[in-house]
Amino acid sequence: MALPRTNEAELARLVRAHNRWRGKEVFNLLASENAVSPVARRYLSSDLAGRYTLPLDTEFHGERIDNSYAGTRYTDAIESLADRAAERLFRARHATTRPLSGHLAAMSALAPLLKPGSKFLAIPPEAGGYDGYAPGFLAAVLGYQVRPLPVESASAPVDAARVREEIRRERPAAVLLGQSFFLFPYPLKEIAEEAHAHDALVLYDASHVLGLIAGRQFQDPLVEGADVVFGSTHKSFPGPQGGLLYTDRDDLFREVAPALVWRIFDNAHWHRIAALGQTLLELERVGEEYARTTVANAQALGHALEEVGFPMEAAAQGYTRSHQLLLDRNRLFERHAIRPGALARRWEKQRLLTDLVGRIGTAEVSRLGLTPEEMPRLAQLLWRAGIQRERVGAEVLAWRLQYPRLRFA
Ligand SMILES: Cc1ncc(COP(=O)(O)O)c(C=O)c1O
Repeated sequence: MALPRTNEAELARLVRAHNRWRGKEVFNLLASENAVSPVARRYLSSDLAGRYTLPLDTEFHGERIDNSYAGTRYTDAIESLADRAAERLFRARHATTRPLSGHLAAMSALAPLLKPGSKFLAIPPEAGGYDGYAPGFLAAVLGYQVRPLPVESASAPVDAARVREEIRRERPAAVLLGQSFFLFPYPLKEIAEEAHAHDALVLYDASHVLGLIAGRQFQDPLVEGADVVFGSTHKSFPGPQGGLLYTDRDDLFREVAPALVWRIFDNAHWHRIAALGQTLLELERVGEEYARTTVANAQALGHALEEVGFPMEAAAQGYTRSHQLLLDRNRLFERHAIRPGALARRWEKQRLLTDLVGRIGTAEVSRLGLTPEEMPRLAQLLWRAGIQRERVGAEVLAWRLQYPRLRFA
């Protein structure tokens, strides 16, 4: 007897409902997300989604081995095209689109480049650093020690002198820069100079700012001294969920490339790589304008939020140089007796999505076509929904429906 299809129907209903809600009926201000271009989305659901290939230049015990799968005549060319596009876009000698995520891209750099027992310095989560670099996570899995870089808070500029002193004191094998709360570029040249003087590598987690680096609106880590750059491809970079890694150093890439397969992962998901290749090619054409609009929107929104009454971090420094803004949690509570989590829940009910930790991002609304002139209107809606508890959902929906198509795609 055939089983009822209730669960399949329910699943289909949920996916349709999600697509409508998140894809058409809300403004998404989550800093860690973005909207994928229509062509890239088509590639994600292409035949590649179910295929294997053994990636190019796979080595086993030091020997290059041939592809052990038939039918891969197009897959290798797709990967090569995506990697070359990444090298051009990031002006790097070597790039790989194989890492399955930002976290695994970090692992793909750390594991082959740092011996077990090594020490690296990273920005702690209390100062906006990525939780994965806190003691007990990646470092524990790989057998490293991690020590905090001296950074005061998520919005405080990184002080090169203090970092240099810490490098001299700790003598780490690597300095790992990059944050989940990432407003301003680093004094990277000075940090890299000190690190290199002590034979430490400079690793740069660009997960949050990768799209801005691609569009030349943030510091260029390779030019300023980073040895290896890696990150997620779906935050300010508007690609499919995944990761990539690039470097100018032949010697380091020779270490990293063979370790990608079988040590960190096996199948690299070629539908994702095709979609990432498409996004890289799109950004070669329109990445600069996209990144410029995204940063300009963030700065305009920061100003507009402060104007309507939200206390913002880093107001004196112009709020941000990235796609992110941070609400000042303490002053928010003092003035309005509300924490960012409760505020985000109120906003969500009115079709305005942010994360629950006081971080606001402008990448996706920039992809929709919003410009700095519209940021005061967005700030007003956030104020009315969040502080005055007005039901602005219908107004938000009517406005959102005016942007049915992605820009910069
Ligand atoms: C700075 C940073 N690095 C790495 C990651 C992990 O990225 P993924 O989710 O792609 O593994 C994150 C995730 O938020 C992040 O903020």
